[in-house]
Amino acid sequence: MPIEVVVHGALGRMGREVVDAVCRDPQLKLAGAVDLKAEGERLPLPGRQDTIPLSPDLETILAQTRPQVVVDFSVAEAAMNVARLATKRKVSLVIGTTGLSPEALAEMDRLARANGVGAIVAPNFALGAVIMVHLARVAARYFDYAEIIEMHHEQKLDAPSGTALSTARAIAEARGKPFLHAEAQKEGLSGTRGGELQGVSLHSVRLPGLMAHQEIIFGTAGQTLTIRHDTINRECYMPGVVLAIKKVVELKGLTHGLDNMLGL
Ligand SMILES: NC(=O)c1ccc[n+]([C@@H]2O[C@H](COP(=O)([O-])OP(=O)(O)OC[C@H]3O[C@@H](n4cnc5c(N)ncnc54)[C@H](O)[C@@H]3O)[C@@H](O)[C@H]2O)c1
Repeated sequence: MPIEVVVHGALGRMGREVVDAVCRDPQLKLAGAVDLKAEGERLPLPGRQDTIPLSPDLETILAQTRPQVVVDFSVAEAAMNVARLATKRKVSLVIGTTGLSPEALAEMDRLARANGVGAIVAPNFALGAVIMVHLARVAARYFDYAEIIEMHHEQKLDAPSGTALSTARAIAEARGKPFLHAEAQKEGLSGTRGGELQGVSLHSVRLPGLMAHQEIIFGTAGQTLTIRHDTINRECYMPGVVLAIKKVVELKGLTHGLDNMLGL
């Protein structure tokens, strides 16, 4: 029997990807969709004649469709309500919405345990990004130097990226001490060696034509090792989301982070 899924935030950028991904997977079945922007009571399924129930109200859809899993990609303020309503009905949770506080995560764990269901919350569902950091942590123990080059579209507001910062912290932690850092004796142009965190130089490239890319270059005597991850569109999150839907029905309580879900 396919796992029945309701998508919360279904008309947003990520929600639409989830709707498509669930419809494409024969082991999953899209039962209903929820979004504040909902107009009308049916959502046409991509590439099919069928429609499914649609509403701005999650409780209505849960009562109508009785799914096993709710997937949420909406806003942090709404996610806690999703967790309360879903767990009360013994529905498991897959949450990709970012910005949840540690208190909200603790409360989700408590609610999931109390109701005997699973919850997977992951701020990054891109499998490759999580595996990149895992592999980099392994390499970090054997190399003295490391630099990170992250490349994003020109509209990205922050630099360096959050992923680059967390990668630098993760590899320094895995090494157990800061990396060695080659200082320029003479810097012809200020900032050319990038920013520095725990001995890791971080460089940000911003260009149209890019989406999200990162490489971690390790160096030691006579060799370098490069670990690189490229994403070209939001579809990159879907293998992680689909895997989470299939895993969460077997879990109890909260699993936070794709790395924990994958057992890395
Ligand atoms: N975990 C990941 O890998 C990952 C990847 C990308 C984005 N995100 C996060 O996913 C979330 C959504 O991102 P997006 O780009 O799709 O945003 P978006 O604005 O395109 O979509 C959000 C949708 O949620 C709906 N919504 C908002 N409040 C709601 C409520 N109370 N009830 C029902 N629907 C509501 C909106 O109408 C909108 O359609 C953000 O928190 C973003 O940071 C996570």
